[in-house]
Amino acid sequence: MCGIVGYIGEKNAVDIVLDGLKKLEYRGYDSSGVAVIKDGRLQIRRSIGKIKNLEESIDKNYLKANISIGHTRWATHGKPSKENAHPHTDSTKSIVIVHNGIIENYAELKSSLKEEGVEFKSETDTEVIAHLIKKHYKNNLFFAVQETLKEIIGSYALGVICKDEPNKIVCARQDASLIVGIGKGENFLASDIPALLSYTRDMIFLENGDIAEVTANRVRIADIENNIKDRKVKNIKWDCVQIKKEGFKHFMLKEIYEQPRTIEDTFRGRIYPDEGRAYIEEVKLSKEYIKNISNVYIVACGTSYHSGLVSKFFFENFAKMHTEVDIASEFRYREPILNDRILVIAISQSGETADTLAALSLAKSKGCITLAVCNIIGSSMSREADYVLYTRCGPEICVASTKAFTGQIAALYMLALDLARRKENFSKEDLKRYLKELWEVPAKIENFLKQSENVYKIAKKFAHKRGFLYLGRNINYPVALEGALKLKEISYIHAEGYAAGEMKHGPIALITDNMPVVVIAIKSRVYKKIISNVEEVKARGGTIILIASESDKTASDKGDNIIYIPDCDELISPILSVIPLQLLSYYVAVILGCDVDHPRNLAKSVTVE
Ligand code: AGP
Repeated sequence: MCGIVGYIGEKNAVDIVLDGLKKLEYRGYDSSGVAVIKDGRLQIRRSIGKIKNLEESIDKNYLKANISIGHTRWATHGKPSKENAHPHTDSTKSIVIVHNGIIENYAELKSSLKEEGVEFKSETDTEVIAHLIKKHYKNNLFFAVQETLKEIIGSYALGVICKDEPNKIVCARQDASLIVGIGKGENFLASDIPALLSYTRDMIFLENGDIAEVTANRVRIADIENNIKDRKVKNIKWDCVQIKKEGFKHFMLKEIYEQPRTIEDTFRGRIYPDEGRAYIEEVKLSKEYIKNISNVYIVACGTSYHSGLVSKFFFENFAKMHTEVDIASEFRYREPILNDRILVIAISQSGETADTLAALSLAKSKGCITLAVCNIIGSSMSREADYVLYTRCGPEICVASTKAFTGQIAALYMLALDLARRKENFSKEDLKRYLKELWEVPAKIENFLKQSENVYKIAKKFAHKRGFLYLGRNINYPVALEGALKLKEISYIHAEGYAAGEMKHGPIALITDNMPVVVIAIKSRVYKKIISNVEEVKARGGTIILIASESDKTASDKGDNIIYIPDCDELISPILSVIPLQLLSYYVAVILGCDVDHPRNLAKSVTVE
């Protein structure tokens, strides 16, 4: 997720753009840049790190101009660097753009432009857009952008200026927010409201397919076929703090609700269900290496360890690779048997967790091929590993990890299917079927979140209990662990995740009506077994909170506290069954008055042992 700002009017444009970018830093800040048109020429300044680095590196008086666009980057394609920072230009430096989103077909577009002699200066997907606009430019920037967008597949919030048309900004929006701020004799552009609030509360929220031509006194909106669009100006009442949370009370809730988009962003351009193709471009393992892998080790901590436990089922069911999952702080001290036929996957949202980093280094020292699954480009782990598979969840601010967990599941699911495809031991029909399951997840989560008040009611009933037990089987046993971790880390209530089959080996002694038992009992090959565990708990006076499949007509016999989730294949079910558990822990913590986003004793990234 990146931040875009633009200005056209009478004031010093670069001042306003830099101020706006600083207000969007929560959207990502691994690099940034600004462009102005001054005396008929484009002036561009870029730097890595936070916006203040950029601000300190430029002469704002020299760059004094009436039009400017700027960008703060959260890298998805290409490491954080000055070359990859936005804005990006065409070869003649007459057109400059800033972009938030993912261009799925950038590789094909880039190779055909290269065949036409275009030279690229960055590793980004964005730069392709600048060259395409130049290619289509015939003294009409708006038309050139329209023609370019007909070739683009993907998501974009785009800002474009041209030295030969210095009195306008052209912008466009598809699946990435973009707002036009309306002033008096001046107009603005931004990814998000906080960047504009100091200058105007009158805003137009562009819709998918909108292309806008913004001058100091006018905004004209049309689509790529030039059909004029009439968008209403809205007056915004929110304050800045509220807005960074997009109106949510806490970052945790915002990030739970972001999951449909972050999961889609993570698989965008990497899976093609209709073709039965999963293709993780950045993991270039050779076919012979893949066939020669003796087994897979997965190392991680906390929530990332739980997504690793889930992914074991993907590597064993899809890629037929024996897989072991280990807590990184255990792995690094237990003399594991390692060699060059073992693939070691390190999972880490931050890419900085000390134990996971140490486990990764140990694996490398033993000759293993290493792959990191990270959310932050340029993190230590992403630099240490031989290969990196990035989730594209944007900054995860809340200490309690939610969207990173589901992003990791999506990424590992795709990776396992890609490995299966490359091992040629998985039918095209099965590939299509399982890829379709992932493709449908964002809409299913969206639908579930629309009826989440039932979770709040259950949270209210049990918020003051002193202990919870979470039970799951098979691929949902790790979700029971994750649900328990979520509850304990933000509400400080003791909660334990357990393999349901283990109940009779001890935990059943705990059962009373004062300890709610959360059971993940979705339709699966172990459904009957998990239901027998539910009966065991009820027979001893226990209280059940059941996570059930929507189509399960018998679930209502199992008790009063039932949360239904959309039906899906059991192998993808953790990405859905975890959502109610995230919400349950969130609501309990809020009811108890806990500091949800900053729980006591915890840090977002544990960079020490
Ligand atoms: C999860 O909610 C916790 N914040 C914690 O367990 C976290 O998952 C763990 O510290 C690993 O962090 P990483 O993914 O950045 O390596």
